[in-house]
Amino acid sequence: MRLRDEALISAESIRARTAELADAITRDYAGKPLCLLCVLKGAAPFTMALMQSLRGDIVLDFIRAQSYAGTESTGTVELVYTPDAPLRGRDVLLVEDILDTGRTAAALRAWTEAQAPASIRICTLLDKAARREVAVQADYTGFAIDDHFVVGFGLDHDERYRELPDIRVLES
Ligand code: IMP
Ligand code: MG
Repeated sequence: MRLRDEALISAESIRARTAELADAITRDYAGKPLCLLCVLKGAAPFTMALMQSLRGDIVLDFIRAQSYAGTESTGTVELVYTPDAPLRGRDVLLVEDILDTGRTAAALRAWTEAQAPASIRICTLLDKAARREVAVQADYTGFAIDDHFVVGFGLDHDERYRELPDIRVLES
């Protein structure tokens, strides 16, 4: 594996795009309490960046699914942490690092739906639409990217590279 030196998406682009998304979310949920569900671990930096610009009545909670080993999806998704906050009747926004096959987002959405929230939307930093196997779409997307394996700004390969401030391609 080789980490490309140059960024696919710079830290400055991430910052600017995240602020735009936060403004859109702030407008869309104006006057309504919002439950942000950060999908651990990858979406933690993105969620924190969004929160810098989000305004409103916001509750933050976390959810965690496991589906990936190395660069290959195992195809099964297990929820290993579920939120403390009651979701019944709440407007919930799932915050994801990346939509790839869509299996993780579909499983998280199904679990969340079963909690009877008022609404569910998905916000993702990255979207690899070409890889989709399960029909799931984000309501808010940071960047659409081609079929590369990327790391940084929360995204990992076997738990490494999450600390990079930008998004870079990891070549095999
Ligand atoms: P999906 O279930 O196939 O959509 O995959 C979603 C999860 O796989 C993400 O939350 C990531 O943890 C991981 N993943 C998918 N593509 C990448 C990538 O390019 N880099 C790092 N992790 C990825
Ligand atoms: Mg991962």
